[in-house]
Amino acid sequence: MTYTEPACAKLNLTLDILGKRPDGYHDMRMVMISVDLRDTVTLTPAEDGILTVETNLPFLPRGEGNLAARAALRFFEETGLPRPGLEMSIDKRIPVCAGMAGGSSDAAAVLRMLRRVYAPEITEARLEEIGALVGSDVPYCVRGGTALAEGRGEILTDLPPLPPCSIVVCKPACSVSTPDLFAQVRLKKLRYHPRTEELIEALEARDLEGIALRLYNVFEDVLPRKYDQVFAVKRRLLDLGAMAASMTGSGPTVFALFSEENRATEAAEALREEYRDVFLCRPQ
Ligand code: C5P
Repeated sequence: MTYTEPACAKLNLTLDILGKRPDGYHDMRMVMISVDLRDTVTLTPAEDGILTVETNLPFLPRGEGNLAARAALRFFEETGLPRPGLEMSIDKRIPVCAGMAGGSSDAAAVLRMLRRVYAPEITEARLEEIGALVGSDVPYCVRGGTALAEGRGEILTDLPPLPPCSIVVCKPACSVSTPDLFAQVRLKKLRYHPRTEELIEALEARDLEGIALRLYNVFEDVLPRKYDQVFAVKRRLLDLGAMAASMTGSGPTVFALFSEENRATEAAEALREEYRDVFLCRPQ
């Protein structure tokens, strides 16, 4: 028997850092959405007791170095159930190291599948708790949809969905290390913070323009000069008619909201002439 689960990319409508914690992590306040850019994770129980991960990207770890494998190990450790052999296969479409929680989303898909197959009695809250042991974005990815994420990322509050719109996602050809970017942050020196409450009100009012006005990610303020491409992509998207554009997570991916699908399609086509990783998405 083989089981299949989609793993959606996440985007940050807002990302705020509130403080540094004694455990070395940061307290966050982020509004996240899921979009229909997906990896597909399949899982086949195996007789041999071995856990393997294979993907369509040869440079990704195949064993326990892969977050999807770590999620499976955690699941069986935490539930106390005997661990069977598992062959996991991930068809990656979400760009890697991009700020879209691709690896966390694959791990979350594994957790959802393992619950379905081995422990349907486990609550969503417990599954999110297990996710938090795997990575800060995993609890959100277990849940998906539109949510406010606080604490390390594990305190989640559901929010109303983004009104219908088109989203162009573009990853410039560079990668940012999340821990390195956190290390750049001097909290008192952050010039702006997102107006998270106002953005939530705009979501509640289904006011796409109000939402677009309030997209903001504090990491943009501390990006080293070598990532100037991020701002070039933002400017290009705005020139191409986007309502607003912002970086997602720790970058370098930029996304932009469009109220009209044809404009978004044209913008994506124009960007594809310069960038390899360009996607036209919708909120999930
Ligand atoms: O939890 P995860 O392994 O995804 O986090 C990766 C790194 O990002 C951490 O090692 C830490 O440096 C940083 N981080 C943080 N505060 C958070 C989430 C992540 O400082 N809330």
